[in-house]
Amino acid sequence: MKNSSAGSGPKRITTRVIASMKQDKKKIACLTAYDYLTARLLDQSGVDLILVGDSLGMVFQGHETTLPVTLDEMIYHSKTVVRGVDRAMVIVDMPFMSYQANDEEGFRNAGRVMKETGAGGVKFEGGARIADLVRITTRAGIPVMGHLGLTPQSIHQFGGYQPRGVLSDEAKRIVDDAKALEEAGAFAVVLEKIPSRLAAKVTKAVGIPTIGIGAGVHCDGQVLVISDLLGLYEDFHPRFVRRYAQLAETIRGSVGSYVKDVKEEKFPSIEEGY
Ligand code: KIV
Repeated sequence: MKNSSAGSGPKRITTRVIASMKQDKKKIACLTAYDYLTARLLDQSGVDLILVGDSLGMVFQGHETTLPVTLDEMIYHSKTVVRGVDRAMVIVDMPFMSYQANDEEGFRNAGRVMKETGAGGVKFEGGARIADLVRITTRAGIPVMGHLGLTPQSIHQFGGYQPRGVLSDEAKRIVDDAKALEEAGAFAVVLEKIPSRLAAKVTKAVGIPTIGIGAGVHCDGQVLVISDLLGLYEDFHPRFVRRYAQLAETIRGSVGSYVKDVKEEKFPSIEEGY
């Protein structure tokens, strides 16, 4: 990661900055990125947190779920992202089965991510169940972000992408899980696809920032998958996704024009040659 803490470069976002943003009631803007070019554009646009999400399994690799993504693939993508970033804090999603078997393995894998990518922290899905893992990881100096609500690595157990925490016992568990993550040392927690009122309750109950996706207006920050925001991923469009561009249409239009020009011998022109 490039060093911008000295000189006139942009101020690097750290866990301390993220914590102070909750206290100062400044919203935290987070997006996913999976490659150097996109990461550079997000960083230049003022995004605070860049998540190398295992959503790359779906929107980059074309799988149906995030489950097939490997640790080596996450490390590869994360290295490219980190190279594009001067200011934002880069967090790497720990993929399915890189930490579920036992805490020792999860801890070592998190250490490998930090050593090999230069990222600023890791994200695990789960609450009280992974509190010991979060504790040993943060104790080693690795910032950890939690992830509660709809946790895509458990999609087969849930049986679908319905909102979580709708029933009172699950809602209570999510509040307790957020407290367990905070107590174990997590610096922030993603809340995915839970009712807005529950997200408000969690946000009040913990001192660490909550980052919502499909979790309403009360979270301390928001995250979206970049391919959704840009209108590149068209396979489905949940209502919490706001498309700020229609890049799939733009790309089809541009590439269609290029193909037409080549076929009709309009590209290249004489001037575009040597
Ligand atoms: O993998 C991912 O992109 C995520 C975000 C949706 C929070 O976990």
